[in-house]
Amino acid sequence: MDIRCKKKAAYVNSDEHDIIVYQVEKEIKKLVKKTSVDAVLESLKETKQLCDEKTTCTSFPLQNGDKAKTVILVGVAKAKTDMNAFRHAGGEVSRQIKSKKLDSVSLWFTDSIDEESAGQFCEGIHLGGYEFNRFKTGDDNKESHQAKITIRSSESKALKKAVSEARIHAEAQCVSRDLANTPANFLTPKDFSDYAKKLFKGTDVEVKIHKKKDLEKMKMGAFLAVAQGSQNEPYLVELLYNNASKKKPTVLVGKGVTFDTGGISIKPSKSMSDMKADMSGAAAVIGAIYGIQALGRKTNVCGLIPLAENMPSSSAYKPGDVVTSMNGKTIEVINTDAEGRLLLADALCYATTKKPALIVDIATLTGACSIALGDVASAILGNNQKEIESICNQETKTGERFWQLPLYEEYKEYLKSDVADLLNCSENRLAGTATAAIFLEHFIENYPWIHLDIASMMDSSATKGFQIKGMTGFGCRTLISIFDRN
Ligand code: BES
Ligand code: ZN
Ligand code: ZN
Repeated sequence: MDIRCKKKAAYVNSDEHDIIVYQVEKEIKKLVKKTSVDAVLESLKETKQLCDEKTTCTSFPLQNGDKAKTVILVGVAKAKTDMNAFRHAGGEVSRQIKSKKLDSVSLWFTDSIDEESAGQFCEGIHLGGYEFNRFKTGDDNKESHQAKITIRSSESKALKKAVSEARIHAEAQCVSRDLANTPANFLTPKDFSDYAKKLFKGTDVEVKIHKKKDLEKMKMGAFLAVAQGSQNEPYLVELLYNNASKKKPTVLVGKGVTFDTGGISIKPSKSMSDMKADMSGAAAVIGAIYGIQALGRKTNVCGLIPLAENMPSSSAYKPGDVVTSMNGKTIEVINTDAEGRLLLADALCYATTKKPALIVDIATLTGACSIALGDVASAILGNNQKEIESICNQETKTGERFWQLPLYEEYKEYLKSDVADLLNCSENRLAGTATAAIFLEHFIENYPWIHLDIASMMDSSATKGFQIKGMTGFGCRTLISIFDRN
């Protein structure tokens, strides 16, 4: 959708369709006074549709001279706990615009709606209109209906900025969604690398591709072990965005397992197809760097994306194997399904060579994350409380929730191996998300480090508000928000 801001105009006289967004708690009376559709509003009010506790989106046809037009009234009920109220409302509206095939729409925000909420509504319009139809044929494959939306309520600088940043945030997240939704036969590690080259062509982001022989030279034995069962070779994509002089970089590391069968410790077949999205961390990183460069942030960021396919085969790594990571530590693999941390171990070692100000890794790392937090929040762990809190606090802006889990010393016991420096996972199933983080901590030296486990938020089971059934692209906007404060 194309959204822009233009001067106030009397919407009654326009032929354009109108969307009027108001906040239910505050606005009903004011709105009734202001609009020329009083009668309709009154009757809606009588039927209590305007006063509903929930967000409502009511559309009705109006005759304006000879022309018929549609007015959509969006009452946003912003409960304190729902940081996504405006995004969800925007998402619903987006699908109404599509289903009604409205071409040209005026968007009105009442006075009590601030720029930030208006921006979130626009984010919702873009995200809620997302479709993944690459593999549909015939009519279903066509680019879906797009509307020209003009915001009429104000032309303020702040609103313009919020609206244009909202578009970039949503575009970035849709880069992540597209990648995560793409099936593994169309997104091998090489396909992902090629996509990165294409995406950043002509931008300020430099793309370096490290191939298998480079990984061997760097002695990334843990990463290579995961990849050795597949015919599709591993790649490490390095993205460099330098737009601030003399500033230590922030390194973003994303798990890029393009398909996770579990390897020899094979997964059950139910829902295994979801494992095409086991590169959602990688998708969040590439989406975020796309966003950061599009926003022109004055910062230095390095993205590291280790890519591999975890397959069972005669060449696959096996339970009991001992592998050596880039920093020389030996790891006894007791479960080949705990593969993400092995890729990340080497990528984190490589991250430390950048002498970073901060390392943030993001990964669909443990099923235990969903057991702990359900499908409402992701897990955050790390060695720097200030950075953890700062990321958690972004949730009011991004609507992406992170909940901190502890890194207790005692968990270290769970990873003791009889034959190597450490086990790749615990022999029991206790504190699965935390022990995975404890494992990663062995590879970050003492650099400030945050680990985000987004397994719980990887997919959405239904289309609702700005969420579209399928892979969510979660985490991308949080990563972008880290650089809002720089
Ligand atoms: N990719 C999975 C984690 C996952 C599960 C992500 C469900 C998204 C949805 C990861 O590689 C994995 O299999 N982890 C194991 C670790 C265990 C063997 C210690 C798990 O969670 O069972
Ligand atoms: Zn796995
Ligand atoms: Zn995995």
